[in-house]
This record gives sequence, C-alpha cells and structure tokens, in this order.
Amino acid sequence: MNDARPNNDSRIVLEFRIKGMDFTTAGEAATGIKRTMTQLGMPADMIRRVASATYEAEINVVIHAHRGCLVAKIGPERIEICVEDEGPGIPDIDLAMQDGYSTAPTHVREMGFGAGMGLTNIKRCVDQMHLDSVVDKGTTLRLLFFSKGRE
Ligand SMILES: Nc1ncnc2c1ncn2[C@@H]1O[C@H](COP(=O)(O)OP(=O)(O)OP(=O)(O)O)[C@@H](O)[C@H]1O
Ligand SMILES: [Mg+2]
Repeated sequence: MNDARPNNDSRIVLEFRIKGMDFTTAGEAATGIKRTMTQLGMPADMIRRVASATYEAEINVVIHAHRGCLVAKIGPERIEICVEDEGPGIPDIDLAMQDGYSTAPTHVREMGFGAGMGLTNIKRCVDQMHLDSVVDKGTTLRLLFFSKGRE
C-alpha cells in the first residue's frame, strides 16, 4: 500500500500504484482493501464483491496499460473505487465489455489471463460502473458499491 489516511467525512482512503506487466505486485490493492474491510468488520458479501472487482480492475492495468493508480474510499455504507491508468486506452468500450473479447497477448494467456471475462465479472460485482477511455492516453474505471439493502 502506498498511502492510507482518514478522510474529513470519516471515510478511509487507500491509494495504490499499479505497474504495467509487474505480476509480482499485482493483486496488492485488492488484498489491501480486503484486509481493511475485514478489520472494519464489513459484511462478507460486500468484501467479496469489492475484492473481486478490484482484483480484475487491477490486473487489467497490469496487463493492458503502462501504469496506473487505484484509490479506494471506504465508508460504512458505500465504497468508491477509482482506477486511472496511462496506456493505450480502449477504442470500443461496448466490444471490450463483451464476454470472451480479449486483446491479451499470448504470453499473458499462458499465465491464465485473457479469457475476456474481467469487465463482465466487475459489472456483476458492482452497484455502479463507469468506464471512460481515451485512445493512446488511458482509461478510467469508477466503481461504486453499496452495503446490502441500499441502492
Ligand atoms: N485498463 C485497460 N486499458 C486498455 N485496455 C483495456 C483495459 N481494460 C480492459 N481493456 C480491454 O478490454 C478487453 C476486455 O477486458 P477484460 O478484463 O474483460 O478481459 P481480459 O483482461 O482480456 O481477460 P481476463 O480479464 O478474463 O483475464 C481487454 O482484452 C482489453 O482489450
Ligand atoms: Mg481483464
């Protein structure tokens, strides 16, 4: 983890840097967020949804972008995750969201990634998802999770 600080509205803010093609540190953001949520005693289902979506988002930066930053704002009723990267961007977001679509290179597929299911899995876990991308600049993914029973 690169930074953790209390926020002025009592949310906890965690920040992580993500390095492209660095599989040794991949997953640290998801693990760190999961640890904090567990320490806070948050509901297991919420922890599972946030950890799964964060892991997929983090791995997408590792595989598809050059570098990125993930910020998690953790409050008792809602969690916001923003993942911003510098990279090639996504030319066709609708296509990227389709099950099975992947541009992952062969050596990454050999590591078990590249099924083209990450964005679909994220969508399944979140309450709200916004994906914005500029070709040759980068991609921003915003995720929002509410505690059960809230919309
Ligand atoms: N941060 C990103 N930067 C650039 N392209 C991306 C990014 N995230 C996703 N993409 C594009 O969207 C496609 C689909 O992403 P998705 O996560 O669904 O599948 P995948 O990463 O290829 O495989 P999997 O997640 O199943 O291992 C990717 O193959 C890539 O072309
Ligand atoms: Mg993926």
